[in-house]
Amino acid sequence: MEILEQLSKSDAFITKEHHYGAHNYHPLPVVLERGEGVYLWDVEGRQYFDFLSAYSAVNQGHCHPRITAALIRQAEKLTLNSRAFYNNKLGEFEEYLCRLFGYDKALVMNTGVEAVETAMKLCRKWGYTVKGIPEGKAKIVFADGNFHGRTISVVSASDDEQARKGFGPFLDGIEKVPFNDAHALETLLQKDEHIAGVILEPIQGEAGVVVPDDDYLARVAALCERFNVLYIADEIQTGIGRTGSMLASYDIATGEGKPDMLILGKAVSGGTMPVSAVLANDEVMLCIKPGEHGSTYGGNPLACAVSMEAIQVVIDEDLPLNAFKMGSLLREGLRDIAKRHGVITEVRGKGLLTAIVVDNTANPELAWDLCLEFKHRGLLAKPTHGNKIRFAPPLIIHSKQVIESLTIIENAIKSRCL
Ligand SMILES: Cc1ncc(COP(=O)(O)O)c(C=O)c1O
Repeated sequence: MEILEQLSKSDAFITKEHHYGAHNYHPLPVVLERGEGVYLWDVEGRQYFDFLSAYSAVNQGHCHPRITAALIRQAEKLTLNSRAFYNNKLGEFEEYLCRLFGYDKALVMNTGVEAVETAMKLCRKWGYTVKGIPEGKAKIVFADGNFHGRTISVVSASDDEQARKGFGPFLDGIEKVPFNDAHALETLLQKDEHIAGVILEPIQGEAGVVVPDDDYLARVAALCERFNVLYIADEIQTGIGRTGSMLASYDIATGEGKPDMLILGKAVSGGTMPVSAVLANDEVMLCIKPGEHGSTYGGNPLACAVSMEAIQVVIDEDLPLNAFKMGSLLREGLRDIAKRHGVITEVRGKGLLTAIVVDNTANPELAWDLCLEFKHRGLLAKPTHGNKIRFAPPLIIHSKQVIESLTIIENAIKSRCL
């Protein structure tokens, strides 16, 4: 107790988490207690630009008044009834999702990884019941460098040693292909008739914002159609306006290049609670029958009411367009900084999903050190995969704030890298 009293407020919270909590994350040492719009405040009252948006869950900005109001309204009426009974919000939300994204049906879950798992189950079921793959032989293709979450079935498809080591044995029926290589996928599909589906992130977020060639996803969609394989897009991180359009995999107005299954999560609820969903047409979705899949909280009325409001905020405030404009401004500014400071070796991204790659040969911890310096100067970002730093502010950010953030980033680089 005495030791705790001598610590700063932040240090005391960090010490408590470290002592009582599992050590399954390595957070930046900042303790947050309030958020509004693009800003966060720590327990000492310091203000920060949020350049992570809870891994793209808070696209609408922290504590958006409309989303908070929807949360409170519904919380006072009915929060959870389980799927043992109907509620008056789930059907409304499912219809909303289906009309907006152009599918027959939606299956609502909670976390992102659960939705990926749901898509994998649907894909296997479709493989057996519709495609006619012999029972127990179905395979699903994933891309090298993917990130789809942390359950054992999902890390079975990962090539990140840290995510896998010590957690085997892993799931059978997984094939891998290099990302952004349609030819490799074609070769695999040609030789293996037991493949039921291909699951891809349209842009690999956790891998460090790896953007494929412009025609890659269209080629994947065409290959999947040719080989009678389901094309499944994991838009948990890229979706809901993040990359400068509502979705990264297809244009919702035309439906061109639409995947057979769409996986959504994170910003679906604007950062208030875990809500995810899988969308598909009847041929796929009706493969799963009552009792074969579910979750107590999946499709709860609170989640449904909040999510309809959260997605509608993205539409009403034209956030995809703002993400497109502000993302261009941000990358332009970062490229100018890269010209002045060779430590930034690459700037990449789409919309407001951006990353810089830093030259860490002299200091393997450079990305982490830079994030500490950003924090010191009032901006929160997190390294991903060693030498990459992702910049993904809420989509409501405006140009003055982008310019202010660029000044913070450049000053931090000057102070750490000269
Ligand atoms: C593309 C993608 N899929 C799945 C997930 C897992 O989502 P969750 O952490 O909500 O389980 C993430 C999380 O970062 C993600 O980026």
